[in-house]
Amino acid sequence: MFIKTLALQNFRNYEERSVDFDAGVNILTGNNGEGKTNMLEAVRMLSMGRSFRTQNDAEAILFGKSFFRIKGLFERGGDDLTVEVRAQGSAKSYFIDGIKVPKGADLLDHALTVIFSPDDLRIVKDGPEKRRHFMDHELFQLKPLYYLDVIKYRRIVKNRNLLLKEMPLNEPLLDVYDGYLAETGARIMAERAGFAARLAKVSAGIQDRITASSDPRPAEDPAAAPAYARPAGEPAAAPACARSAEDPAAAPAYARPAEEPAEDTAATAAGLEVSYEPSIEMPEPPDSDAQGAGAVPRIQEAIVEQLRSRRAKDVDAGSTTRGPHKDDLKLVSGGVDLRKYGSQGQQRTAALALKLAEVDIIKEETGEMPILLLDDVLSELDESRQRCLIGSFEDCQIIITAADLPTDLRQAFAGAHTIRAHDG
Ligand SMILES: Nc1ncnc2c1ncn2[C@@H]1O[C@H](COP(=O)(O)OP(=O)(O)OP(=O)(O)O)[C@@H](O)[C@H]1O
Ligand SMILES: [Mg+2]
Repeated sequence: MFIKTLALQNFRNYEERSVDFDAGVNILTGNNGEGKTNMLEAVRMLSMGRSFRTQNDAEAILFGKSFFRIKGLFERGGDDLTVEVRAQGSAKSYFIDGIKVPKGADLLDHALTVIFSPDDLRIVKDGPEKRRHFMDHELFQLKPLYYLDVIKYRRIVKNRNLLLKEMPLNEPLLDVYDGYLAETGARIMAERAGFAARLAKVSAGIQDRITASSDPRPAEDPAAAPAYARPAGEPAAAPACARSAEDPAAAPAYARPAEEPAEDTAATAAGLEVSYEPSIEMPEPPDSDAQGAGAVPRIQEAIVEQLRSRRAKDVDAGSTTRGPHKDDLKLVSGGVDLRKYGSQGQQRTAALALKLAEVDIIKEETGEMPILLLDDVLSELDESRQRCLIGSFEDCQIIITAADLPTDLRQAFAGAHTIRAHDG
C-alpha cells in the first residue's frame, strides 16, 4: 500500500500544507527543525491513531491554534482509502473514508506503516521496555483487539498496585484483581509468544542476508546499487540482502515450499535466535507453535498461581513484580545474549533484522506491503546495511527524512521523488 497525498492543517510547524508522494522512494529534505520528522509523525499518526513522539497529542497543535487536522489519501489493494485525525484541544476524532469512527484504535489496521528511527537501533541494547514496545506496536497493527487488551491490562496493573499499597490488605479484592490480570495477561502472552515465534523464523533468514550483504562488493557491481540508481531499462540485479524468489535460502522461512526443510539459520553462528522471555513461567515452551486460543486458559492458570505465590513479595515491593508488563524478547547469536554481550555492530544488525522482519510479517498477515518511514536512520548505518535496508523494499513505498544525505546516497537516490519539508 502507499500514501498518495498528505494534507496538514495546524499540525506542528505546518499551518497549511499538502504533499503528494510517489509510490516508490520519497526523500524529505530540509534543514534541522524544518519539519521532516513532523511529517513522518503525521503519517504514522494516521496509521496508529496517536503520535510516536509524545503521550500528549495536543502538543502537536501549531502554537497559538486550537486544533489540528491530518488527512491522508492512501491506496490499499487498488482502492482509495482516506484516513483523517483531528484534534481539538485534547479531544481527538478519527475518520475512515469520511465516516467517523469512535476511537484511535479503530484506525489500527487500515494504513499500515513501519517506522524506523535512530532510537530503534537501540532495541537490542536498551532495556526490556523497548522490546515490549516493539512487540506491542507490531501487534497493535495486526490485531486491534490486542491493543484493547494492553490498555485494559495497564489499568488493571495500576489498580492492583494501588491495592498492594493499601493497609490493611484487602485480600479478597486482590484475588479479584489477580483474576482480571490473569484473564487479560494470558491473551497478551499468547499473542506475544506467537509473534516471537514468527519473528524467530523470519528474522533469522534476514540476519543472514544482512551479514551476507556486508561482504565488500566492487562499486561497479550493478547489484550493489539500489534499483532507483540504475539507468532506466537495465535489468534489476537484487542486492545481496534482497528477498529473492529464486533463491530459497534468501527467501523468508515462511515463503519456502512446505516440503523443503528450512535451513535452521537460527542455529548457525551468525544467525539470530529470537525467543519470547515472559516474566511469568509459561505452561509450555513459550516459543513453540502451540500457542493460540487453546493456550490461553493454561497461561491464565499459571498467572493466577504465580501471582498468588508471589503476593507477599508484591506487597513488600508495593507493585506487581511479574506479568506481561515485565516481559522481554531474548536475542541470541552464536550462543551470545546480544542484549548484554553483543558488540555495537551485532546489536545494530539484529535491530535492523527485527525491523525488516516486522515488514515481512505485516506483509504476510495482511497481504499488503506497509509504508516504510525512515527517520534519519540511514546516516546511522554503514553502507552495506543501508543497501540492505533500501534494497529489501523495492516493492514498498519508502519515505526517508534526511537533513544531509551523504554524497554516495545522494547519487543513489538521484531518481527518487524529493520533497522539501517546508515549501515557504
Ligand atoms: N506544536 C508546535 N507548533 C509549532 N511548531 C512546532 C510544534 N511542535 C514542534 N514544532 C517545531 O517543529 C520543529 C521540529 O520539527 P522536526 O522535528 O520535524 O524537524 P526535522 O526537520 O526533523 O529536524 P532534524 O533534521 O533536526 O531532525 C521545531 O522547530 C519545533 O519548534
Ligand atoms: Mg527529525
